[in-house]
Amino acid sequence: MTTVPQQKDAPADQGTVLLEAHGLSKSYGQVQALRDGHLQVRAGRVTAIIGDNGAGKSTLVGCLAGMHRPDGGTIEVRGEPRTFSGPQAARAAGIETVFQDLALVDTLRVWQNLFLGRELGAGAGPLRWLKRGTMRKEAATMVGALAVNVPSVDARVNGLSGGQRQAVALARAAGWGSDLVILDEPTAALGVQETAKVEEMILGLRQQGLGIVLISHNFDQVLRVADDVFVMRSGRTVARRETEGTTGQELVGLVTGAVIDPHPFGNQTGQS
Ligand SMILES: Nc1ncnc2c1ncn2[C@@H]1O[C@H](COP(=O)(O)OP(=O)(O)OP(=O)(O)O)[C@@H](O)[C@H]1O
Ligand SMILES: [Mg+2]
Repeated sequence: MTTVPQQKDAPADQGTVLLEAHGLSKSYGQVQALRDGHLQVRAGRVTAIIGDNGAGKSTLVGCLAGMHRPDGGTIEVRGEPRTFSGPQAARAAGIETVFQDLALVDTLRVWQNLFLGRELGAGAGPLRWLKRGTMRKEAATMVGALAVNVPSVDARVNGLSGGQRQAVALARAAGWGSDLVILDEPTAALGVQETAKVEEMILGLRQQGLGIVLISHNFDQVLRVADDVFVMRSGRTVARRETEGTTGQELVGLVTGAVIDPHPFGNQTGQS
C-alpha cells in the first residue's frame, strides 16, 4: 500500500479538548480490568495517568488507542463520539500510542522502524519500488525535529540504548500528523539522563501544541512535566487534579486509597 506522509494540521489552540472518555469498562474473561475509566486530554498540556500496578491504566489507554474494544462507556475526539475498530482507526483520528513494550523491530534500522506499515512507494504490483532515499531523509527530519540523540537513521534498533529506543518510538508517534500522543511508562526502564531527555522531548511536543497522555509511576516526574493528573484505583478513575494544586503526598494518598475524593470529577479544572 502506498502511503503519503500527512501534513501536520495547524495545532489546536492550547486548552482545546482533544479527547474525552467517560465510564469506560473492559473485562478480559472473568477479570474486570477496567470498571469506570475517565479521561480528558487538552491540547498543549501533559495529562498524567497514575495508579498502582494493575489499576487499569494500560487497559484504559488501550481502549483509546483502538487496541481494545471497550465493553461500555464513551470516547469523544474533538467533541465527536467515536468507536475504534482497531489501532489504524485511532491513528486516523490523530491518536498515536507508544505502548509499554514499544513495538519496535529490533533487526530493522531506525528509518525502517519510523516507516513501518507506512512505507512510501511508487508504481504498483511487481513494479512497485520503495522510495528508500525519501524515507531515510524524512526519517532524519522526524528524528531531528525532536532533538534526540540517535546516532544515525541507519543504525539498527537492537544496537540502541533504552533512551534512544524510546526516542525512536516517540519520533514515530509524533511524526505523523497526530495531535494526541499516548505514552505508557516511557521512562520506566531508563536512567536519570535518558529520563531527562525523554522528559525534554515530551515538553517539546507539548510546546508544539500536542496533547500528551503520560502514564507514570514516578510522582516527581508527574509533578515536573504534567499539567493534569487522573488517578486510577482498581479499574476506576477516582480523582482528577491539576499538578499546580496538588502535592506528591496527596497523589500517593489518592493512589493508595488513604485519601478518598468524594467528587472525583468536580470542578477542579473548570472544564468538566
Ligand atoms: N490481556 C489480559 N488478560 C487478562 N487480564 C489482563 C490482561 N491485561 C490486563 N489484565 C488485568 O487487568 C488488570 C489491569 O491491567 P492493566 O495492564 O490495565 O494495569 P496497569 O494499571 O497498566 O498496571 P501496570 O502499572 O502494572 O502497567 C490487571 O489485573 C491485569 O492483570
Ligand atoms: Mg500498564
